[in-house]
Amino acid sequence: MRRSRIISCGAYLPENVMSNDDLAKIVETSNEWIEQRTGIKSRHIAAKGEATSDMATRAAQRALEKAGLTGLDIDAIILATATPDQTFPATAVTVQDNIGMKDHGFAFDIQAVCSGFIYALATADNFIKSGQIKRALVIGAERFSNIIDWTDRGTCVLFGDGAGAVILEADDTAQGTNKDSGILSTHLHSEGAHRGLLYVDGGPGTTQTTGHVRMNGKEVFRHAVTRMGEVVAEALQANNLQASDIQWLVPHQANKRIIDSMLEKLHLPPERAVITVAQHGNTSAASIPMALAAAVEDGRIRRGDLILMEAMGGGFTWAASLVRW
Ligand code: ACO
Repeated sequence: MRRSRIISCGAYLPENVMSNDDLAKIVETSNEWIEQRTGIKSRHIAAKGEATSDMATRAAQRALEKAGLTGLDIDAIILATATPDQTFPATAVTVQDNIGMKDHGFAFDIQAVCSGFIYALATADNFIKSGQIKRALVIGAERFSNIIDWTDRGTCVLFGDGAGAVILEADDTAQGTNKDSGILSTHLHSEGAHRGLLYVDGGPGTTQTTGHVRMNGKEVFRHAVTRMGEVVAEALQANNLQASDIQWLVPHQANKRIIDSMLEKLHLPPERAVITVAQHGNTSAASIPMALAAAVEDGRIRRGDLILMEAMGGGFTWAASLVRW
């Protein structure tokens, strides 16, 4: 049986760090309020002229270096972003060119906002399992600072910029038991009826302007906890596993309180979650691969560990994946 295995990770954060105190100079807020309600202490903000594709390329190059590969070894790039460089072409083709992936393969973007990375992972996993490709670069990259209304304290304190990437590779030796490494399953959902609770109020197809993030925070919070709880239960059940089997929860980093309530639902202690939201803020599709890269880099995640990823975002979209490292 063919499985996809994550063989390396890479991340990139812009140099410029914006603290809560910096934000308090722009809007009426305080470090205490932001930290208490969200767990966020600071976020990275892309430099002027630093595009989503630039950050994605840096993360991809780091993942390639770690795996000892070049762009020529990659068959496909699937890049999740809600903040592409341009309406078209896809940001992924710029990365394709930047990493020297010449004369072969394909690259495209996926848009599922904060769930985007798991959507991209699921897509690449299915290309690999079907035998169509052997290796994929799966990237989550965002420049949310471009679409934030910096006068709206209800949203501007939440988001940050960054990129994370993983390389997925076909493993034909994997056997169909839960002990095997690789992506065990992916679970995707969306419900368009709630698209008005979290959205960008512009775009070339309607207003011809970029628009800004608009959000009903309380409703998003409520749906996030419910939907992520459901999809996590679905993932565990599909693999005949228990929450206690999970070594690492690598959640979308929207809000520490949302992560805490997931830990509570799963009866897992706080030290089993990889949490980067304090330093990264919410980087939408980039948050899971950046958290994954951090925990692999510092040795927390080891071969054989069972990892649960979960996310929820505008749409609404929500998703989960179980991975044996
Ligand atoms: N600083 C100070 N005060 C603020 C700020 C701020 N940055 N933002 C709002 N307030 C005020 C409000 O005006 C309100 O004041 P009032 O009582 O005088 O009217 C008060 O604080 C309470 O506001 P609420 O919106 O009710 O605060 P809440 O406890 O719901 O926290 C928050 C807001 C942090 C946005 C929360 O709802 C949340 O985290 N929701 C989830 C949203 C999220 O994570 N979105 C990310 C995208 S989706 C995803 O990734 C899952």
